[in-house]
Amino acid sequence: MKTSLFSPQGMLLGALSLLATATECSAMGTANSLLLTSIAESVQLPMFTWSANGTHTAKGYTTKQADITSVEGMRQDCENINLNKKLSVDFRSDVFGEGLIGYFYKCENISHDTNLYWFTISSGNRSQIDRLCGQKSSYPIVYDSQHNTWFVDEPFYCTQRTAPSNVF
Ligand SMILES: *[C@@H]1O[C@H](CO)[C@@H](O)[C@H](O)[C@H]1NC(C)=O
Ligand SMILES: *[C@@H]1O[C@H](CO)[C@@H](O)[C@H](O)[C@H]1NC(C)=O
Ligand SMILES: *[C@@H]1O[C@H](CO)[C@@H](O)[C@H](O)[C@H]1NC(C)=O
Repeated sequence: MKTSLFSPQGMLLGALSLLATATECSAMGTANSLLLTSIAESVQLPMFTWSANGTHTAKGYTTKQADITSVEGMRQDCENINLNKKLSVDFRSDVFGEGLIGYFYKCENISHDTNLYWFTISSGNRSQIDRLCGQKSSYPIVYDSQHNTWFVDEPFYCTQRTAPSNVF
């Protein structure tokens, strides 16, 4: 069950503060709250969230058997993220269940078969963030129809974590 969204902007901005780390604005003034409120509403961001940011790697393949690197698919995915960013609602629900919201805002091709991604992730369910940052989950190969590529997600390394200050 998702907690429904609420409106007081101060708290909403707190919940969304990590969303702003990728932008270069120094202050989250009224100019930004319309954008952030709109994003929070459309992804049904819960009132209290646990968040983390960091990096992770993934490999892309042309088939489910993961034998041939999908050079073109990996290149396009990286390019799309660098140009347009990506907000992923119910990110890896096959592993974590529903409710993880992932924001991917930077990508680098670090070897012939590996992309490195910068992410910020958020959830109203703390155990999902614990599991993701605990690096113990394994990720079944998934098909990305946009890039016609099978992706294998590798562990997520969390560099910073935040908890809703109101619950402690
Ligand atoms: C995580 O967020 C902190 C605080 O905004 C920032 O300094 C750091 O660079 C971020 N880490 C990554 C990997 O994006
Ligand atoms: C990544 O870069 C290497 C060269 O460093 C290149 O051989 C490879 O094709 C690139 N892969 C992608 C997916 O762009
Ligand atoms: C929180 O996430 C875990 C999976 O990490 C799941 O087992 C649990 O049911 C979730 N709790 C709620 C209240 O959704």
